[in-house]
Order: sequence, then structure tokens, then C-alpha cells
Amino acid sequence: MALQWRDQLSVGNEVIDTDHKYLIEIINKAEISLKANNHYELTAVFDELMRYGKAHFEREELIAKAVNYPKTDQLHASHCKLFTALDKFKEEIGSTWSDVASTHFTTLLRDWLIQHVIKEDLPMKPWMIKHSPLFDPRDQRVQEKKQIQEEDPLFDEVPSVDFDQRSIVNPKNH
Ligand SMILES: [Fe+2]
Repeated sequence: MALQWRDQLSVGNEVIDTDHKYLIEIINKAEISLKANNHYELTAVFDELMRYGKAHFEREELIAKAVNYPKTDQLHASHCKLFTALDKFKEEIGSTWSDVASTHFTTLLRDWLIQHVIKEDLPMKPWMIKHSPLFDPRDQRVQEKKQIQEEDPLFDEVPSVDFDQRSIVNPKNH
């Protein structure tokens, strides 16, 4: 059965939630390719997961650090571990996908998602919700505000940034 996004999976930040929704799409695509026994497509899905997963982890760690999430280092270590597991798996399967490897792949993806989103990302929510759901430290206005506060710590009444006008970037274009 296809995985479905639910509001309970939200970490309280749109950038991260949008990434997670796309990761679910990737996993669903992998299951469809597996059912169709399409190894060519499975390889493409795997490559997409590696590429997108890496970009997602970088974005997520940046946001976690910016909201002062105290376990950002642990999050980074866990991301590295996940990538090592995927790398190892890729080495093992080589260019052929046996039935065992294909099934193992989809199990690995589901476990990975549950481990990653539910166990490691949801605890960030209390720190995320102190900010706008559209908070993104890469935003020029956030950086300008930070710079003003660093230059003049007494100047804490900086006009608030209207994040609601900012659109979310389509993750597929990242
Ligand atoms: Fe994540």
C-alpha cells in the first residue's frame, strides 16, 4: 500500500515538510517499480533518493541549527549513518537487481523513512514552532536580521519579516 502524508508527520516547518512529502513520493515510486519488476526504474529511483536525500539533509541541518535545536550534531551523525547504509546497499547490488535486493530496497526505504521522519525529525517540532512555518535561514531577510542583531545586540526590535508572502520552492527543481 502506498505511503500517505499525514498532518501528524509535520515537523512545523514547510521546507522540511515539503521535502518529506517528496521523499514519500520517491518511496512510492520505488514500490511501483518493484511491482512492475522494472530494474531500470529502480536504479533511477535509488539515484534520485541519494541526490534528493543529501540535499534534504543539508537543508534540514541548516534549519535545525538556525532554530537552536540542541541535538543538531546527533541529527547530522544519524544522517551520515543513513547515507553509509545506502552506499553499502548500492555497492552490494551493483548493476543487477535480484528479487531479494529489490524487496530489501523497499523495506530499507520504509524503515528509513519511519526512522528518519518519526523518530529523528519530529522531536524538532517544539523548536520549529517557535518560528514561522515558512522559516528558512537561507532567506536573505533572515540573514539581514541576524546580522543586525549580531552587530547591535541591544537592537532586538527589528521589524518582523513577512514570511507568508514567500513561496515554497518546488522540491523537484532543487
Ligand atoms: Fe528529514
